[in-house]
Amino acid sequence: MNNLLLFLHIFGLMLGATGGFGSAILMRKAATLPTDQAKVLKGQGPLFANVSAIGVALLVATGPIMVSSKYGGFAALPQLFWVKAIFIVTLVLAIGAIHLTYAEMRKGNMAVAARLPKIGPVAGVSALLATLFAVYTFGGG
Ligand code: HEM
Repeated sequence: MNNLLLFLHIFGLMLGATGGFGSAILMRKAATLPTDQAKVLKGQGPLFANVSAIGVALLVATGPIMVSSKYGGFAALPQLFWVKAIFIVTLVLAIGAIHLTYAEMRKGNMAVAARLPKIGPVAGVSALLATLFAVYTFGGG
């Protein structure tokens, strides 16, 4: 059971990374293209944001179950877990902000698109640091 949960946790990580890196690569490429072609690529942003959000939802759903099934509760975890928790919070907030921004853009407020190149890296760096501190907390090395 715990192995299956860890697999789903890592699958969430894979989906989250696919969405995040995919979007970053897409936007870098779009910046080099003429406006009409760039528009088509940038239009795929919400798709990648959704893949990321599904991945992070899977991480947040499976993580607490493992805390209880494998470690017997949050109190038993090493202090370092709470450093990971800070970056989980910033990751979830950044993903929420990205979705709110895309929702505003769907309503026609395109000016808010300028927020995306600022929030995207916050999500990416948060995910990397959450992963780093997860490995130092649970990796057993
Ligand atoms: C509420 C949110 C989360 C909780 C409670 C949580 C909890 C856990 C727990 C208990 C484990 C250990 C599994 C084991 O011992 O086999 C683990 C592993 C891991 N988590 Fe999370 N997690 C959460 C979110 C995340 C997020 C957002 C990321 C990355 C973006 C992440 C990345 C990892 C990684 C890479 C491992 C494997 C570490 C290793 O075994 O070396 N987790 N998590």
